Amino acid sequence: MLTLTNFQERFQKSFFDKDPILPVITVAAAATLIYSTCKFISYKQPQKQNTALKEIPSPKCGYPYIGHMWSFGPLPGKTISEWHRDLGPIIKLKMGVRTWIVCDDPELAHRIFVTHGADTSYRPYTTYSNKYFSNGARGIAFSQPGKHWDKSRAAALSVLAPKKIKNYLDSIHRETSDLVTRLLESTEKNGYTDPYKHNELCFLNVVFKIAYGRSFDAIDDPEFLQVIDMIETSMKFLALEKDKPNFLPIVAIFDYFAGTQAKMKHFTDVVRNPAFTRFAEEALLRDGPNVVKSLKEDGHNLPDEDALVLLGDFITGGTDTLSVTFSWNLAIMCHHPDLQERVSHEIDKYIQVHGKLPTFDERTQVPLCVSVLKECMRYRPTTYFGLPHTADRDIEVDGYILPKGCTIIANMDSIHKNPKHYPVHPESFLPERYMNNLKTMQAAANGKLDQRDHFNFGFGRRLCPGTYLAEVELFNAFVQVFARCKIEPISEDEYPNISTARENAGLNILPPPYKVKFIKRKDALIHV
Ligand code: HEM
Ligand SMILES: *[C@@H]1O[C@H](CO)[C@@H](O)[C@H](O)[C@H]1NC(C)=O
Repeated sequence: MLTLTNFQERFQKSFFDKDPILPVITVAAAATLIYSTCKFISYKQPQKQNTALKEIPSPKCGYPYIGHMWSFGPLPGKTISEWHRDLGPIIKLKMGVRTWIVCDDPELAHRIFVTHGADTSYRPYTTYSNKYFSNGARGIAFSQPGKHWDKSRAAALSVLAPKKIKNYLDSIHRETSDLVTRLLESTEKNGYTDPYKHNELCFLNVVFKIAYGRSFDAIDDPEFLQVIDMIETSMKFLALEKDKPNFLPIVAIFDYFAGTQAKMKHFTDVVRNPAFTRFAEEALLRDGPNVVKSLKEDGHNLPDEDALVLLGDFITGGTDTLSVTFSWNLAIMCHHPDLQERVSHEIDKYIQVHGKLPTFDERTQVPLCVSVLKECMRYRPTTYFGLPHTADRDIEVDGYILPKGCTIIANMDSIHKNPKHYPVHPESFLPERYMNNLKTMQAAANGKLDQRDHFNFGFGRRLCPGTYLAEVELFNAFVQVFARCKIEPISEDEYPNISTARENAGLNILPPPYKVKFIKRKDALIHV
């Protein structure tokens, strides 16, 4: 078996041999072995005496230089949740030369990200997000509080404000209705369907139409596939735990020329930037409103380079997140035929009175639908870590010191199972827990801690500006599905596996690929 010492020897040897590829491969191979040997041997560090400051505990399976960066395994959120179980609500990880502070307690997270928001709303450097995706910290998602971010965030909030979303409702209705038609047709044709690509087409179309004023026709449309490929590539590059050149500066040198970074650079310069420049040029010439035009017309005064990145933030932030969220929702619902019936019945009751589907404004008349949407996001969160924050100076929260420049992360997996915030069977799927909190996810996310339904949209000043758009889309898609369909497994013993997730998927947590049947409800009150 490969021991740590001979792994280090090999690492150093191949590095000094100046073989650009070998060290990475060697490290990766060794990592698999190390992961299987280090497991969760962890310890609580003794508290220092005579001081109010508390040490942040660290899992013991770190190694010299690389620290914990190879200890995550293929499902990082799950591994970190186990460390929390051992070590408590806040832990410190060494990721090569970087420090991560991970928290899974809602109160502590709220104090860190909201109470101390003025200091903790910065983004840490990551190779892809800073250097490539945001063309040097432009746009909104990866820029720093200050000039770029203020302008971009104001522009984003203005085009995504609830009163603006009213202008997009017809398009959202059409896209979600087409989604269900395609899910039914695909089941009819093949005997089953995996909804993932169909979800991507629906949710990309909504945000692409808002941003650029156009949409795509089918899941095999080559242009659609090209955009989706760009989004998925970015999502993979954005995986926080995989940022080798940032964690190990020694790797960065050759990685720039021959490794992942060379791929990132090629993708950004040769694939993404030209495509997004062309989308924007075409959008300016198109009839009707779109964000490209409003950024020019409404006095936002954003330079073109910033606008390009901002629109990229929308398309990337608004497609995969929703497709993943809705794929989990459908997979979970497949396991609960009784709940499907109750939901369909609730929607039917509304249709009988009003002759149409409920809109998001009318959501309190379908409280179970709202609760199921919230519970699915709590039960199976969209991302492992949201987007990371950092502090611009050392800060003290609850006696813990968070050092300047550290990466601060909420562990979305275990924060959503925290028994203080979710006192009733936090591990179980129980939509009823939300029947008394039907306020919008956006209002809940902006409200006091005790009113927060879930934490998928992040925290404080950085809170996702697309929250309202996202929940309107999810609501429309959900009521369309259960007004018109039943979801059934492909056979009695082949249900979607919702106890695990797709490995190495990137920033988002994807369900493993699955097949289900969308069956037309015989008693449906609405057809298309
Ligand atoms: C289920 C759907 C979605 C989820 C779970 C989600 C989640 C998140 C999270 C966790 C953050 C980081 C918050 C933080 O730093 O604390 C974020 C930021 C962001 N999201 Fe979303 N999002 C979703 C949909 C959308 C949509 C539809 C759009 C736009 C069309 C969007 C655009 C953005 C942008 C631009 C940011 C960066 C904000 C900033 O850094 O100031 N997201 N989102
Ligand atoms: C789901 O997948 C996990 C990991 O592959 C496996 O351990 C588990 O048995 C699967 N569950 C079911 C119900 O098939």
